[in-house]
Amino acid sequence: MPTGGTHGGMQEAILLVGGQGTRLRPLTLGTPKPLLPTAGVPFLAHQLARARSFGVRRIVFATSYRAAMFADAFGDGAAFDLEIVYVTEESPLGTGGAIRNAAEALRCPPEDPVLVLNGDILSGHDIGAQVALHLAEDAAVTLHLTEVDDPSRFGCVPTDERGRVTAFLEKTPNPVTNRINAGCYVFRRSVIDGIPAGQVVSVERETFPGLIEAGAPVLGYADSTYWLDVGTPAAFVQGSCDLVRGVLTSPALPGRTGEALVLDGAVISPEAKVTGGTVVGARSVVGAGASVRGSVVAEDAVIEPGAVVVDSVIGNRAVVASGVVLREVVIGDGASIGAGNELTSGARVWPGIDLPARAVRFSSDT
Ligand code: GTP
Repeated sequence: MPTGGTHGGMQEAILLVGGQGTRLRPLTLGTPKPLLPTAGVPFLAHQLARARSFGVRRIVFATSYRAAMFADAFGDGAAFDLEIVYVTEESPLGTGGAIRNAAEALRCPPEDPVLVLNGDILSGHDIGAQVALHLAEDAAVTLHLTEVDDPSRFGCVPTDERGRVTAFLEKTPNPVTNRINAGCYVFRRSVIDGIPAGQVVSVERETFPGLIEAGAPVLGYADSTYWLDVGTPAAFVQGSCDLVRGVLTSPALPGRTGEALVLDGAVISPEAKVTGGTVVGARSVVGAGASVRGSVVAEDAVIEPGAVVVDSVIGNRAVVASGVVLREVVIGDGASIGAGNELTSGARVWPGIDLPARAVRFSSDT
């Protein structure tokens, strides 16, 4: 890797993990999004292992929502050969305010590059090449830009012929480029120190546009490798499945890549089908004739014989009765879905809810 700890390299990072993850409720009611089990480990484990592989040695976690849970999960970082320190905002400061606040715990000098990562992104891009571009061009900030098929769902980020970012444009039906902000930045440390302290600041709406207006070099590092923002249930499930299937490789995957990742103590009937990168969490049970495809099954859950679960998340201790059909749904921890129910397309069942069995079934066609 090109960035391993030499003079002018990058050794420190800030990880933004303070958001409430509202789009992923009810999964995020008890667990912050960056800690949700993803391909068998907390989501951040994949990002930490990747950052370490590009030479990062020390990471400041910018926490707010359920802050204490991060230290419980990762401690001092030794398991990842990293030093992790935690900074907590009393009230959320937004992306820019959080970066500024976390910078108090950085140790590097003003000219050094600091990696800043959103805590909900899976990316296969070459962080070393992004840092190398940043250093070669002596940029203030270098942003990873990714290309998406439908940029109208995002704000887009045009660049000029030298690769300099020219604007941050809000969502529009007719975007001028399909390149969007991919949520991974390299900052010159002194630029972070210039963000106003102790107040709510958005990097996307305030810091970056302000730098561009002031004529500071804000560069785009564009590529089209694997990239996914796991902010919604559908994307979260897809990310987990992609890691299990090896579509994106991760040093943190606790097993071999394949159609399914079955964790300790889980019991899968030989007559069940578990496919599409599904994770079956510790001590969960999948009964005979059940079909579980492209899904995340948490710990101690029960999928009874003949149930069908597709592209869904099944929470800890949840029970899915025989013959139930679930597609693209989220079942909260401890919920129980009685026989005969069919839930589809974005349905979410809150933790502990008991959906009674339906006595009459007009169709058993799955
Ligand atoms: P939604 O509520 O579903 O939009 O999710 P979110 O709260 O995670 O917001 P978003 O996806 O826009 O946040 C992008 C990244 O910034 C995530 O990694 C968040 O954890 C983080 N983040 C957002 N706001 C704050 C904040 O005020 N403080 C800190 N420390 N991190 C934040």
